[in-house]
Amino acid sequence: MSEKFRIKGATPLKGEVSIGGAKNAVLKLMAAAILVKGATKIYNVPDLTDVDIMLSVIEGLGTKIKHDKIEKSVVIDATNITNITAKYELVSKMRASFIILGALVSRCKEAIVALPGGCAIGERRVDFHIKGLEALGAKIKIENGYVHAKVHRLVGADVYLDIPSVGATENLMLAAVLAEGATRIQNAAQEPEIIDLANFLNTMGADVSGAGTSEIVINGVKADDLHPIEYTTIPDRIEAGTYMTAVVATKGKAIIRNVFPGHLTFFNNKLLKMGANIKLIEPTAIEVSCKNKLSAINFVTQPYPGFPTDLQSMAMTLLTTADGVGIITESLYENRFMQVPDLRRMGADIHQDRNHAIIKGVKKLTGAILSASDLRAGASLVVAGLMADGTSVIENLHHIDRGYENFEEKIKSLGGKIERYVDNSEVNLTEGLHNEAHL
Ligand code: EPU
Repeated sequence: MSEKFRIKGATPLKGEVSIGGAKNAVLKLMAAAILVKGATKIYNVPDLTDVDIMLSVIEGLGTKIKHDKIEKSVVIDATNITNITAKYELVSKMRASFIILGALVSRCKEAIVALPGGCAIGERRVDFHIKGLEALGAKIKIENGYVHAKVHRLVGADVYLDIPSVGATENLMLAAVLAEGATRIQNAAQEPEIIDLANFLNTMGADVSGAGTSEIVINGVKADDLHPIEYTTIPDRIEAGTYMTAVVATKGKAIIRNVFPGHLTFFNNKLLKMGANIKLIEPTAIEVSCKNKLSAINFVTQPYPGFPTDLQSMAMTLLTTADGVGIITESLYENRFMQVPDLRRMGADIHQDRNHAIIKGVKKLTGAILSASDLRAGASLVVAGLMADGTSVIENLHHIDRGYENFEEKIKSLGGKIERYVDNSEVNLTEGLHNEAHL
């Protein structure tokens, strides 16, 4: 018995939708909360399974957690840390929980954290995280699938990252907060989520500068200099980009609220170039619409401020019916085109060669039974289902639930015809097609 989406496509999305807190920011803020004794409260926490997993990891360390899903807040009372181990059972469910390593080493001078394995979208190594912590003086052993890090005192150092890794930048920022002296992270990631973490840490009493540039300096402070805080997470730029895509794909018109448009500059420019209309109507609200056939574009995914890899699959869905031929180069992950076979089954014309995809626009997509293979590929299939003629069924929703809160409710509020249902048997697409009462 599994949950599935049934989507009847080709209905323009219209109305208003509000974006939740950024998954990829809040997970790290929650880890940062363990640096300080006392109760830290985080607002604008999205209701996602990834948030639940991170809270389980943090609770497992001996902290006390209060998660108020109505208020969208979490209180993490890290007065006592009684356990320094993050088990494989949890870390393997969500690799972002590896971020706890830097925070635990900082706070407890020791941590035992399961090494995340590979991931469907790529190898996703953590070697920069480990080398960075070693540069700060941690002795690291990898045994039985766990990283055991121990240090008498962390001492600031210069660390150069070969790739501006988001996770490595964050792990090192957390470790460096309580180190002696200054740590300089060169070729640091510049994502908005990094700035959010720096703001969170500085509000707490840390001394972090340069976040949002390629060089971040963390001047270590004493544990007593830190204090618990209340903090509001930034909006999720990838969730916002997903709704923008869905509106454009269905030739709709909608207002997206609680968005920081500056976080989506590169993506917005590409949508405009394709023929979409984007209007800033308030500092945190945009109106998106599209009437005409889209034109094909080319792009390469890049670390921020380049084209976000997390929106690559969404843009590919748009290209499937755009005028002309679009070329996508995925430069961050080895295997992030997992939506391609399902898009082809809907009628898309896509040629893939390693990390390049050539998409020749077709007249239309048609509904099919589809399977979410990871979070963003899954979301792009939802968008494809919304724009296609006929009905689509999407399986493996657990991937999508990791990163989109109330996905179907928000789509329904825009007039999209989507329902979540429990499948007790084999999918009967024909029945779905004739049973529009469900939609
Ligand atoms: N890399 C290494 N060694 C390392 C670290 C990274 O080789 O030690 C490589 C990775 O294999 C990857 C590249 O560097 O090819 C970039 O990885 P990065 O560390 O920047 O990514 P991440 O921190 O693991 C975060 C987001 C991802 C997002 C990427 C890139 C979170 C929880 N995840 O991952 O989000 O794709 O940054 O922007 O913040 C998603 O939300 O769907 C998602 C996958």
